[in-house]
Amino acid sequence: MTLADPVNCLQGKHILLGVTGSIAAYKAVSLLRALKARGAFVSVVMTAHATEFVTPLTFEVLSGERVLTDLFHMHEEMKHLHAPENADVMVIAPATANFLAKAALGLADDLLSTMLLAARCPIIVAPAMDGGMWTHPTVVEHVNRLRARGVVVLDPEEGPLASGRIAQGRLVCEEKLLDAVQSALCVHSDWEGEHVLVSAGPTQEAIDPVRFISNRSSGKMGYALAEAARARGASVVLVTGPTALARPSGVEVVSVTSAQEMADAMCQRLEWATVVIMAAAVADFCPKESASQKLKKSDRSSLVLELVPTPDILTILSAQKTKQILVGFAAETEHLLEHASRKLADKGLDAIVANDVTQQGGGFGSDQNAAVVLTRDGRRREIGLMPKRRLADEILTEIKRLKDGGCASTVIAGEEDRGNAQ
Ligand code: CTP
Repeated sequence: MTLADPVNCLQGKHILLGVTGSIAAYKAVSLLRALKARGAFVSVVMTAHATEFVTPLTFEVLSGERVLTDLFHMHEEMKHLHAPENADVMVIAPATANFLAKAALGLADDLLSTMLLAARCPIIVAPAMDGGMWTHPTVVEHVNRLRARGVVVLDPEEGPLASGRIAQGRLVCEEKLLDAVQSALCVHSDWEGEHVLVSAGPTQEAIDPVRFISNRSSGKMGYALAEAARARGASVVLVTGPTALARPSGVEVVSVTSAQEMADAMCQRLEWATVVIMAAAVADFCPKESASQKLKKSDRSSLVLELVPTPDILTILSAQKTKQILVGFAAETEHLLEHASRKLADKGLDAIVANDVTQQGGGFGSDQNAAVVLTRDGRRREIGLMPKRRLADEILTEIKRLKDGGCASTVIAGEEDRGNAQ
């Protein structure tokens, strides 16, 4: 991808630098200096073994911050959770084979591995190990797992190792590490100038003043898309059904309840938008009549509700759209691609994000999801299970590619590009 000015990319960004117990730990000192010189705030976390190679004091003096080493002596409130949640990128350099194994399996027996699980930002891992270890099937398996999850793993380089052998195991050079950090951060300005209208969450269709029909949508995917588009420089309006989620910062939020209200809010803002993403799980039917008073069970021995279809918002938007890119979602429990392709065509969409809501580890309410993005130009891209915030970035990259009429600007592990779906 083409990088913007690297200084601007790192300026003011929060980087969490994890250092594990490899002889290459000393190289993290130089990396820290390079990141700081580019204007980043860097917090360093060391494993116990890393402190055998380089003292925390070295990093402390250079970062100007206390180095975090111990899960059980965290004086500042919950820093093991807040630091990774607030980081713009997490870099583990060097990463030992032991650390890769823990990261791949989700073990959290020390501060750094715990932070890794709490991180919701891009993660870059730069392994370093002795010859033979990098190609061991266990290490290969762990690296593949991490990549499938969207972690950027930088292959170590070949050359003389501390043991005297010549093999692939040397920590990737600093320049490549900085490039990876920049790529992770610079991607965040490629949506500047875009006006993104996103819908999220369920709708609620009133039966009476206290009861409604709704669905299991948590809104997490739509909120993640709004947040990601904003972080990449877009102006964003989020039209949301009722959710328990915090408002994403920097995003205009319009709260609605019913499908009709969502349709009105979306149509009103269509002209403003350059990209419309319908991530909401809109109720397909609503009660024909909503009672003005609470329905009393004592008045009846059974209750039959007559339901009528709600407006299909995407179909309306598609009929009214001018220049906008229109993106829908297809939440399916079977025949994923078949149903999604039909919706892409029937609703006149430019792209559809298909996801199997029954998939283990993903779907409604989960923090993770996997998806297949189908575009009107016949492209199909499968994106492996990853946090919804990262998935949002992948979806945005696909939409941008379609909008710009070119190739995807980033390639993230976990992707399987199968080309033409037809
Ligand atoms: N959608 C919409 N208006 C509706 C229902 C759905 O705009 N009344 C949008 C959703 O936001 C989503 C896409 O249409 O982007 C597909 O929604 P989905 O629920 O998967 O499909 P439906 O069209 O509702 O069809 P079905 O329920 O039969 O799968």
